[in-house]
Amino acid sequence: MKVIVSENYRNNQKVIIKGFISKFLETKNIDTMLDIGAGSSATALAFKESVRSYLAVEKDKRKAESLRSVDIPVINKTFPCSIKKKWTLVLLSHSIPENKHKYHNFIKQAWDLVSENGYLIIITFKGVTDSLRNIKSEIFETKLQAFENEKYIELIKILELFGKLQYKTITSIESSTCKNDIYNSVLSSLKCNKKQKCKLTSILEKRYRTNLTYKIYHKHNVLILKKHNN
Ligand SMILES: C[S@@+](CC[C@H](N)C(=O)[O-])C[C@H]1O[C@@H](n2cnc3c(N)ncnc32)[C@H](O)[C@@H]1O
Repeated sequence: MKVIVSENYRNNQKVIIKGFISKFLETKNIDTMLDIGAGSSATALAFKESVRSYLAVEKDKRKAESLRSVDIPVINKTFPCSIKKKWTLVLLSHSIPENKHKYHNFIKQAWDLVSENGYLIIITFKGVTDSLRNIKSEIFETKLQAFENEKYIELIKILELFGKLQYKTITSIESSTCKNDIYNSVLSSLKCNKKQKCKLTSILEKRYRTNLTYKIYHKHNVLILKKHNN
């Protein structure tokens, strides 16, 4: 359970994703975009305003309604679902299925919706080593592999069936002047006993505090595939 309480808490993940994709839309002259697992309007609104045609696919009913309430076109379905036209950019940002056996069909269906000379972009935490991973390694006194590395390798293997992959990473920051915000956030993704919780407190103090601010870094792998003319 994530308990973030302080007003000083900041997480710039959406700003970083929005910045990266907005720049991509501009530099590659993207005019149509399909955003699979769009989530909130925090990113979708900016994307919609940057392209001639934008469509969100969102399986969560409440999120879909909230997107619609700010005039964002949305299909309230679980992808893969029927979508007619093709798109210059198909984005899967933190919406790859958890079950790796679903990867091939999911990616194939998304790839089929990319127009010639268009792009498929996947943004994922799979395969990253960042503050959370390093904190976990230190607490459990073992050098851990990158996060969900097996799934990441499988994902890469499948994407390479479709074309030459371009790899990038982007980094977002969670920060607060209140240590409990970061402590609770880390604990929401780790199972710790009492002793390990004490260790986490001291690790945050020693390595993740600069002056009065506690900061942890989240890396996101960005995988880009271009569809070339046949
Ligand atoms: C972690 S959020 C990411 C939101 C946004 N794309 C971002 O990167 O900030 C994942 C979103 O994808 C939606 N989602 C996950 N799998 C989906 C699927 N197969 N079809 C449609 N929506 C999906 C979830 O409901 C959720 O809103």
